[in-house]
Amino acid sequence: MKFNSTLIMDFLNNRYAYKCRKASLTKYMRLTMKELHSLEKGFAMSSPKPGFGKAHIEKITTYVNETKKIGKLDEEVFMMVHSIFSQYVELQKSLNYSGDVLTAVENFLKGFENVIPDRTYGGAQKLTRVKTALDMPFNECVLSRHSTRNYSDEPIDKDKLKEAISLAAHCPSACNRQAFHAYILDSTQFDKLGPYKSGGIGGFIDKVKAIIVITGIVSAYEENESYQYIVSPSIFAGYLTLSLHAYGFGSCVVQRPVQHTRTWKNIARSIGAEEDEQIVCMITVGMPAEEDIYPQSHRLNIEKIMKEVSANNE
Ligand SMILES: Cc1cc2nc3c(=O)[nH]c(=O)nc-3n(C[C@H](O)[C@H](O)[C@H](O)COP(=O)(O)O)c2cc1C
Repeated sequence: MKFNSTLIMDFLNNRYAYKCRKASLTKYMRLTMKELHSLEKGFAMSSPKPGFGKAHIEKITTYVNETKKIGKLDEEVFMMVHSIFSQYVELQKSLNYSGDVLTAVENFLKGFENVIPDRTYGGAQKLTRVKTALDMPFNECVLSRHSTRNYSDEPIDKDKLKEAISLAAHCPSACNRQAFHAYILDSTQFDKLGPYKSGGIGGFIDKVKAIIVITGIVSAYEENESYQYIVSPSIFAGYLTLSLHAYGFGSCVVQRPVQHTRTWKNIARSIGAEEDEQIVCMITVGMPAEEDIYPQSHRLNIEKIMKEVSANNE
């Protein structure tokens, strides 16, 4: 019997991913951060709802409790919870809300009255629009980019958009295959995205002026290059977020499960993608408001990202 090595690799990869999802400090830390970010995104809504974010708050408290069962909550993540929860209390009080969700957050904060909330760990921040970052020093360009979800009514300039995409296409790609496409949809075409239109961007789709759907070309990779068709388009997407910012656009990446299901196949076909293309992600585009509230998206201390490998590392 001849085995299909790709099928075996898929099976092993999925089994590995399943094993990795078991309880661990790392898992709870990152999932806490995910829910915290979802909550702080609510602060940036033009009219936040009283008591919003119940499900996220429940998850955060569950993850923190699960963490305590197996170890200690990371101090930086604790400061993120503290900052975002403290700002949540302030915001809800300003909305005259006094229900269960607020009580749950206040109860969580009880016992930490001696901790002074440090707002640099997360919550809302007010930012003014960057008209162009093309002449900025590179670090300023990088640091002034933030995912924009609340776009102004100003239309986008299609020629500039093309220039931004052209610049981003100078990203590295596996053996220079450039095996990705960027499909541009204006708002008249958004319905083609079916359920992808609501997931992740449901809260701000009405403000989005264009969506760039990024696909990976699966046939460009050989059998021993499993999942590579996701990597180069993702690098392109990263470059594109920066390039869009440099040209003065606001943008936000929106994720998708990279699965070859009927739904995803139909969406890909509806935007004109070929049979051998997988949608990897999409990027919403619009012009930023002159001044707006953005989520902070606190970045972890570099020691948690950069790991120097030495002889003692095994
Ligand atoms: C792969 C990927 C998927 C994302 N998906 C979403 C999404 O579905 N909805 C959303 O509002 N933001 C989404 N984002 C934006 C992130 O929330 C954002 O990049 C992160 O919080 C860091 O904030 P910043 O981009 O403002 O620096 C996504 C970003 C990436 C890279």
